[in-house]
Formats: sequence, structure tokens, C-alpha cells
Amino acid sequence: MKLFSTICKPLAVITLTFVLAGCDQRAAEQSSIPVVVQPEAVTHLGADAWPTAQSPFAVDPAIEDRVTALLAKMSAEQKVGQIMEAEIRHATPQDVKDFHLGSILNGGGSFPNQDKYATAADWLELADAYYDASVDTSDGHLAIPVIWGTDAVHGHSNVIGATVFPHNIGLGAMHNPSLVRDIGRVTAREILATGIDWTFAPTVAVTQDDRWGRSYESYSEDPALVKAYAAEMVYGLQGVPGTPEFLDSEHVLATAKHYLGDGGTEAGDDQGNTRVSEEELRDIHAQGYIGAIEAGVQTVMASFSSWNGVKMHGNSYLLTDVLRGRMNFDGFVIGDWNGHGQVPGCTNASCAASFNAGLDMFMVVEDWKDLYQNTLEQVRSGEISQQRLDEAVRRVLRVKIRAGVFEKGRPSERAAGLQGVIGSAEHRSIARQAARESLVLIKNAGGLLPIQPNLKVLVTGDGADDIGKQTGGWTISWQGTGNEKSDFPGATSILDGLAEAIEAIGGSLEHSSNGDFLVKPDVAVVVFGENPYAEGQGDLPSLEFEPGDKQSLALLKKLKKDGIPVVSIFLSGRPLWTNPEINASDAFVAAWLPGSEGAGVADVLVGGTDGMPRHDFKGKLSFSWLNDPSQNRLNPHHEDYTPLFDLGYGLTYAAGEEGPGVLEEDVTGLQSATQDSITLYSGRPLPPWSVYIGEGEKNAVMISGSYAATSGGTVSASTTDMKVQEDALQVSFNGTGTGNTHISGPGLDLSDFFASGILSFQFKQDKPGTGILRLRVGDKAIDLDTAANALLGQGWSEVTVPLSCFAENAATFERVTVPFRLESDGEIEISFGEIQFLKSGESTIDCI
Ligand code: BGC
Ligand code: BGC
Repeated sequence: MKLFSTICKPLAVITLTFVLAGCDQRAAEQSSIPVVVQPEAVTHLGADAWPTAQSPFAVDPAIEDRVTALLAKMSAEQKVGQIMEAEIRHATPQDVKDFHLGSILNGGGSFPNQDKYATAADWLELADAYYDASVDTSDGHLAIPVIWGTDAVHGHSNVIGATVFPHNIGLGAMHNPSLVRDIGRVTAREILATGIDWTFAPTVAVTQDDRWGRSYESYSEDPALVKAYAAEMVYGLQGVPGTPEFLDSEHVLATAKHYLGDGGTEAGDDQGNTRVSEEELRDIHAQGYIGAIEAGVQTVMASFSSWNGVKMHGNSYLLTDVLRGRMNFDGFVIGDWNGHGQVPGCTNASCAASFNAGLDMFMVVEDWKDLYQNTLEQVRSGEISQQRLDEAVRRVLRVKIRAGVFEKGRPSERAAGLQGVIGSAEHRSIARQAARESLVLIKNAGGLLPIQPNLKVLVTGDGADDIGKQTGGWTISWQGTGNEKSDFPGATSILDGLAEAIEAIGGSLEHSSNGDFLVKPDVAVVVFGENPYAEGQGDLPSLEFEPGDKQSLALLKKLKKDGIPVVSIFLSGRPLWTNPEINASDAFVAAWLPGSEGAGVADVLVGGTDGMPRHDFKGKLSFSWLNDPSQNRLNPHHEDYTPLFDLGYGLTYAAGEEGPGVLEEDVTGLQSATQDSITLYSGRPLPPWSVYIGEGEKNAVMISGSYAATSGGTVSASTTDMKVQEDALQVSFNGTGTGNTHISGPGLDLSDFFASGILSFQFKQDKPGTGILRLRVGDKAIDLDTAANALLGQGWSEVTVPLSCFAENAATFERVTVPFRLESDGEIEISFGEIQFLKSGESTIDCI
């Protein structure tokens, strides 16, 4: 068992006054190491130093009186229920009624009946069930409609067949605010067609360090663009305040998130600490909120991150004095996924501090029943004042009244006029336009693009026909992993789009994923880039693309060596250091994460029958592009700003620009090519690996969402929290047969690791099981029972095993396709995460 040995170092002294705030306080508590506190600045400029936002709403006596009348009828229980949002996997319609829950959400990868293929009708049925329960007046229950929130962050991408728009970074490159409004408008329609009231969008983060795994959720590193877009997206989603369309039957509630400073954390660490001056917080990070509030946004989500060491979920100065007092926000503040539990002194089940600081609704996910009880007691004891409770409930009710949910009827009735809108042709054509306009032309040597008529074109690269890769994270599943092409009915891959456009001008197309061809092509189009990720799981240590293992570069070079002109289409959630790849390409296009309409790419890349462009490039960088991998924090307002391509860079056909000559490849900060470790699972299975559960040798089910079960029911798995949310798996074996969970993928050569290597993973078992638990690498298994029993009930522990336990000699390890497998015939529940092979290390257990 690894003990937390974190001792916080005092941070640099910023001003003269300090408070004592917890650095890793929870970690320290768990390991009973005395909490060492760090000084943090508490001197604030004062809310007056912040801009006022012009709220579009004057106080409306009709609404306020209605709220007052409702409040007068509500018991403490009913009020406390209204400030809770639970996750659909953890609260039934009956719970919504019994505990008066104000809201429910589906997290990323969570669906009605835990069915990834749930239809619009299934979503509506569940929405009706929750709604009906909330307005059921039997037993004297007070009817207050529940509202359902979801992450429709690039279209309603929770639902199979939905229109998926480019992620925000691509929208930023378009520099087209009115198209952003259109995207919001049609996304709202698709959301409503599933009975949902509210989306947790737009993200108005202003990313400053591109190593952040949520960079792609950010429109730009430029606060002015974020501010303008925030307003347009809110107008699109909610409608324009003061007009009849505002929150009418075709609009949903929006959320500006994550307040405040999420894009400014040190080292781009997701949920980390934003250490900047108050001026920088205001001038860079707060701009999107001004745009959103002025457009009438009804909810703001608190950020997991801290500002100068103080968790935003507990920051009353920013949540209350600045956001309400100064910026005139009159909607409600929703917490992020158990974010309140990270406030010092709090747990997921109890956090008066966060509520008192200004959180109006807890996103409590699972522990809502305990939080409800504890909050109720805190109200009774006075730790939470009646006045504060009433203020929060007033805000929630005000938003519900504005949303019209008291009058609009059941979700299915509201959706009646929206049949067939999910993935409709009109919506897809907007997404296709967005994909088209988001493309940034980085290089076009010799005017290779647009592709001319009558050419033989090879399309290759692992992104060419992979809609999962082109849509990225927050698509069907939370991480965007585990999606097949068939999971995107109605969508087109980049390959599909190219095929149609090239054939239309007399060309021919050959596709292979590895660059092989039957007929020597006149030009090759290579689609490659980042694989999907979401949140902290996309945090990077370095912005070098494919460090140590430049597979895409090898493919480009192979084609160049054959004398074939190469066009690269780079799919990514952020700029990455790609000088070698740009050098190895004649043309290079940054396509970001273009969404479900791959045809938008061909619209620009493939010319007309006359060889002239059908559409010019419109995209301009909304993130500066780096010149060496150490330029993590590369923004115009920083002193050392020396990008390769400035903010606003982007070539056009019209100007006949060719872009850069040969770029420097020998730069600082490159990663070494030697591998001392191989990671299979870190928060999720890392490509090319996938994780499965199975019964006997059959019925293997790949785990792509947050829950899966084998068809015979022997094994089920759900995601669980280790260091951050959902970064590990909990697997239950029910003892009715031999079950397993395993990681598999293409053959892995572990022979170099045989001599002194170890397998390391995080493991947790809370209760004794029956039967025998075995651990297998490749062909050989060892008994894990003794080790597991010794760790029983101890929480997360690192288990390390010598790799020599699993093979006779290095040769046996040359091609391992199942490098990790746990199996049991008993009834047992275990959790694991963070699986890797290390070339050397100490082992905690012996081979048995
Ligand atoms: C994330 C949520 C996501 C959920 C998926 C959580 O850990 O924070 O955003 O929706 O996992 O189940
Ligand atoms: C994310 C939010 C998201 C929420 C609900 C969190 O983990 O940070 O952006 O809205 O989960 O899925």
C-alpha cells in the first residue's frame, strides 16, 4: 500500500494577507498525516473592480410573487430536495417524488436503462416517468416539475443518430458567431426531442495551457472570441430574452461553465489550481460569463478547479459577491460532479460550506440521500440559514418558471412537434458547414490542394474511416471511446465524403488504413491524429505528437519515399508539436474534431470539375500553434510569445498561399524514443487496448460506457472513482460460472520486459469473496487470493508482480494479445485501474 507522502510546499507569497487552506487535505486525512497548510492570498480587489454585466432581465414581480407563494407552501424537506441533482443511474422516479429532487442528470455515457442504443422514445419514456413523479400530487405532494440536465456539448451527442458538431476548438476557428447561434438552436431541438430540459453547455473556458485535456471544449485562448461565442451559443440554445422564442417549446436551458478559471490551471492540470492575479482571472477567464449573462444564461456551473488554492466550489467571493453581486447573474449556480466534496472539510455527502459560499444546486450524482439528510440537519441546526436556503430555492424556482416547465406538460408532449429532428438533414447541413469552416489550412506547397479532377487518390491513416476518432470525447460514451462506425447512423466519415467528391470529378479512390496501395496514386490523403479522450484523461505531459513512437510520421515518409504527394488531415483536440509531420506533408490541414459530417472536409479539399475550389478555407487558428514541444503556455499576453503560427493564422486558396518552408525538427523538449513502461489502462484503456468482461471463453463484452454486463449475467462492470471520477473499473462476479475481465488488443512484444519487468496495477477489494481470484498475463495465470486477502478493506493499493511469473522465457512474451486478465469462479467484487508494465521495479507479491 502506498502512503500519501504529500507535504505541501508553501506557495510563493503573493500578497501580505493569508488564510490557511488545504493542499491535498483529503489525501492527508486519509493517510492520517498531519495536514500541512499552505498560505494563500485572501486580499481581493473587491467586486467593484469587476465589470458589471447587463442582465437582460428586470425583476419580474409576477415570477417573484409566484416563487414566494410556492416557498410559503414548501417544507424544509421540499426545499432541500430542490437543491439536489442526482444521476439517473442512482435515483428512480419514485426517489424524485419522495425526496422532491429538483433535478436529475445523465452523465457522459449514461443512458436510459443503461442502454447505449436507447431510442428517442426510450429517453422520452424515462423523462416522462421522472416528470410524472415530480408533479404527482397524491399524498399531499407539492408538484414542482423536475428538470433534466445533460452534456450536449457538441450537439446532443448522448443519443445514437444525433447530429454531432465540431468540438468548440473547431467552432473557434470558424470565427462565425451567427453559425454558432444556429448550432445552439438546432442542438436545443435535438435535446428537446428526447425530453430533456437543460444542457451543460457552453463551456466558456479560455484555455491557456494546451496540455489540458479539455482544451478542445474551449473556443479559444482569446477571451474576446469566447465572450462573443458564449453569447451566441446561449441565444441559440435558450432563444433571445424578451422575444417570444425565449425558452419556448424549441429552446432549452443553457449553462456557462466552469466558473471560474478552469482553463488557467497550472500545467493544464484538469481540476487543478489556477494561480493568476485577480486581474488576469477577470480579464482572461471571466469574459465568457459576461457574454453569457448578458445573453440571459440561466445557470452557471462551478468549476472543480481552485483559484490560488481555494476550491471554486467554496469560493464565496467569486460565487456570490462577484457573480451575483456584481455581474447580476440571477439564475442558479449548479455544482459540478461531486465538486462540492472536494472543498476542504466536505465530503460528497455533506457540504454546508459550498452551499453557503453560493452553490445553489449540488450535482451530487450518487450520495444524494445522505447529502439530503445532512443538509436538512444543517438547516435545522442553523449552519445553513433559512434565508440562504430560501434564496437558493428561489433561484431554482425562478429558472423553472422561466423555462415554462410548470405549463409545458409532459416531456413527450413537449416533444410532439419535434419528431424526426434528431440527425435531420437540416441539422446535418449546419454541422457540415461548421466542419467546412473550421478547417485551417496550415500548408499547401505547390498548390497541391484542392484535389484536381481525374486523379487516382489514396486515402489512408487510421482516422480516414473512423467516426469515433473524428468526433472525439463526449460522444455517445464519456471518453468517446468504444464507438463503431455503425454507432453513427446518418453520419459520414472523412473517407465517405472524399470518395463522393473525388468520384464526382472523375477521380478514383483507393482506401487502405496502413498506406498500402494496389495502384500507385497521384496523391495520398492521410488522416491521423489524437484518439478520443475527455477531461483529465486527456491531460498530457508534453505537446509533442506521438512522442517516442512516430507511427503517423513513418506513414507519411513512406508515401513521400514512393514519390507520392501527401495531404495530411490532422485530427486533434488542440495544437500539437507536429513539425516533422508538417515537413513530411505537401499540404497540411488542421481539422480539429469535425463531428459527424465528414463530408464537410471534402467540400474544401476537393475541387470542382474545373479544378477550381468549391469552397475556400475560412478557418483561422483560435489557439496559437507551437514551435517546440515545451511551449505549453503560448498565448499573446504572455511575455515569451513566439509561436510557429500566430493566433489568426490560416491560409486560403484565394491568396494562393503555400505556408511554411522546412520547419525545425531538432528542438528542445523532445521525448526519448526508448520505452521503459507500457501503460494499458490509465483512467480508461489506452488505445490500442480495450477492456472486456466475459463468461468462460465466450460472450466477451467490450466496456465502452460506464456500465456493462455479460449476457448470462455472470460478470458486470461499472466505472468507479480512484484518483478522479470514473478512472477505474469495479467488476462483480456473481459466482454462477467462471467469469473474467481482461484487456486485449493487437500483439504486444513484452520480451524486453521479461528479465526484470513488473506488472503494476491499482487494486481494491472491500469485502471477502468466494472462489479463487486469478491473475493472468498472456498464457499463464497466478493465484491472486493471498495478495488480495492481505489488502482486503484497505482501499486502493498498488499491486506489483514480477513478469517472470507469467512466462518461461522472453520468447514466450513476443506477442501477448491479452496482457491483463482477472478471472474468478466465485462471488466477488473487485476494482482495478492504472495498469502498466515497468521495465524494472519492486514486486509486492510472489508468483504462486
Ligand atoms: C464525469 C462526468 C461524466 C461521467 C460519466 C464523470 O466522472 O465527470 O462528466 O458524465 O463521469 O459517467
Ligand atoms: C464535467 C462537467 C459535466 C459534468 C456532468 C463533469 O465531470 O466537468 O463539464 O457537465 O461532469 O457530466
